[in-house]
Amino acid sequence: MWLPCRCTTKYVAASIRRGVSASSLHALRRGRSSWNSAAFMPESAGFEGVSGRDALHDYSVSHSENFWAAVARQRLNWIRPFEAVQDCDLSQGRIKWFEGGKLNVSVNCLDRHVHTCPERVALIWERDERGSEVRYTYRELLEITCRLGNLLRRHGVKKGDCVTIYMPTCPLAVASMLACARIGAAHNVVFAGFSSEALAERIRDAQSSTVITVNQGVRGGKITELKRTVDAAVQSCPTVRQVFVAMRTEKRVEVTDRDFALEEEMLKEDVVCEPAAMDSEDVLFLLYTSGSTGKPKGLVHTQAGYLLYAALTHRYVFGYHDGDVFGCVADIGWITGHSYTVYGPLANGGTTVLFESTPVYPDPGRYWDMVERLRINQFYGAPTAIRLLIRYGDQWVKKYDRSSLTTLGSVGEPINTEAWEWYNRVVGEGRCPVVDTWWQTETGGICIAPKPSEPDAEIVPGMAMRPFFGIKPALMDTEGKLLTSNNASGALCMAQPWPGMARTIHNNHQRFLETYFQPYPGYFFTGDGAYRSQEGYYQITGRLDDVINVSGHRIGTAEIEDVVNQCSAVAESAVIGYSHSIKGQGVYAFVVLKKGVDMQEADLSKELNSMVSEKIAKYACPDFIQFAKRLPKTRSGKIMRRVLRKVVDCDLDSLGDLSTLDDPAAVQEIIEGHEKLLSK
Ligand code: WTA
Repeated sequence: MWLPCRCTTKYVAASIRRGVSASSLHALRRGRSSWNSAAFMPESAGFEGVSGRDALHDYSVSHSENFWAAVARQRLNWIRPFEAVQDCDLSQGRIKWFEGGKLNVSVNCLDRHVHTCPERVALIWERDERGSEVRYTYRELLEITCRLGNLLRRHGVKKGDCVTIYMPTCPLAVASMLACARIGAAHNVVFAGFSSEALAERIRDAQSSTVITVNQGVRGGKITELKRTVDAAVQSCPTVRQVFVAMRTEKRVEVTDRDFALEEEMLKEDVVCEPAAMDSEDVLFLLYTSGSTGKPKGLVHTQAGYLLYAALTHRYVFGYHDGDVFGCVADIGWITGHSYTVYGPLANGGTTVLFESTPVYPDPGRYWDMVERLRINQFYGAPTAIRLLIRYGDQWVKKYDRSSLTTLGSVGEPINTEAWEWYNRVVGEGRCPVVDTWWQTETGGICIAPKPSEPDAEIVPGMAMRPFFGIKPALMDTEGKLLTSNNASGALCMAQPWPGMARTIHNNHQRFLETYFQPYPGYFFTGDGAYRSQEGYYQITGRLDDVINVSGHRIGTAEIEDVVNQCSAVAESAVIGYSHSIKGQGVYAFVVLKKGVDMQEADLSKELNSMVSEKIAKYACPDFIQFAKRLPKTRSGKIMRRVLRKVVDCDLDSLGDLSTLDDPAAVQEIIEGHEKLLSK
């Protein structure tokens, strides 16, 4: 039976029944420490020699199997218990957790809470229209999920299929994800800001026959024609047989033979839906993210390990307690929305906010008005929004009562000290810990964050600091050697597997191995660089590959180049990220035109921007386009991106060694072109 962490006495009674209590009670009776381990983490009472949270972290790494076995037994509902805790070998890129076990993720997120507290609020949908929030209890969410599950089943969706969900953050999107999980299908949520071509590429790669969408989206007071985007996308997706369309607005949209009205069809279905018994390592979802090639990769997460890791991190990084209202403002189209709007909070029986709007709609007080109205306890957002809000002044924050807040989280990109201080001092009135959480689509959940820690342990601004339970970071030098000392910088790797990590790239296991496991054999390579301080705290220093982070959204520079190069006037291009005061990073494109092209640069810039927005998404559009006669290249013809980056960062003193350049004069032209562009 699932028991929330607060129920210490109940836990002891329950653990006696399960027979794990002897050592824990013994430890408690002996009073080995003043730390009430059972109150903090019930399982820890059974871990020999563990007193204090640091010791618990040490144990979770040194006795990883014991740790994860105890937590998995305690926190997940199993249809059949697992036989092996793990079968992992990082040197082979093999990752398997809890094999032999069977469970259903939707049962873990819904049914077990409906049994204990059916009327507890599961979702608060903070609709774009301020003040019109809608609450869904666990009972209601289970009902909708079951109707949707039955509907999908009746329409032939089965285990092994992958359903693409192209919806804004809303209850039916959550129910769609859970309905897939209920019947054993995988889901592939595509961020509703992606263009029809980007959507089509993801539908094709996932081989989806079913798409779920809405007639229109509403965000920041603006309407987006999501159904029309789906219609355009499926033109080039022969696998798609059916599209379910929910009604977010009253507007009727054009209907084709393959379309079904989602709500109408759901009404025909039963509210009970038999959950599929899934193997721990069956696929739960694919989520596409950018890498350093032009083709996005569909990272695969599986059932038990992912859910367990999302749930555990949600509870401990944010100090989530039963009854709290958790406000993660990320879109469900990103991993943050998956793990901390949907799966983590729901697995913990929590109340989670679905934020449909923007931080400045209808005014820059939106977040804090919502915090007051919904009595949000943990607020989880992105530095880019914080930086934007700083500009509007403190009055927009102070106008609202934020006394409900206990923890503030930050995710997706480095948080600069100014933004951190403001978040801490103005938003949190200096009384809420700010947790800068580092993780990735690949890691499934938070890997490094200031919490959990010893109760009065320090938090350093702008640092992710401490590895989570079961996480063992490692830094590598440029020769690929392990850096063992502190006060060192290197490539950030993980030396041990953990249950939340991605298992493969859909349809491309080879790329999975090459990207994450071959660079440093025996380790998982994150693609990020990090600094380990004298005290042993981690600070992320940024990507080491050609991935940039615009407003917390990942995008590969190669993806943008591929689009730019499709323009018939373009001979070649190089896209790089540069430091941007609000977005974190902006997009800067160097473009070389074909000989004889006679077009105004302004017109070309416009055309390139609209191509990027049509083929990828608006956020990927270049902020600057510099037309150049040629790009600096090595003698072997490789574009010297390092040099371009320095030019754009106006760091001309450290251009480095230019002796390998084919034609050093190209650099001078680039510098002059850059100065000209800035002076415009
Ligand atoms: C970056 C988002 C600095 C990092 C959860 C990582 C961060 C990429 C932080 C993953 C942070 C994420 N500090 N950088 N706290 N969190 N990043 O897959 O470069 O969308 O590799 O997952 O974002 O982005 P993704």
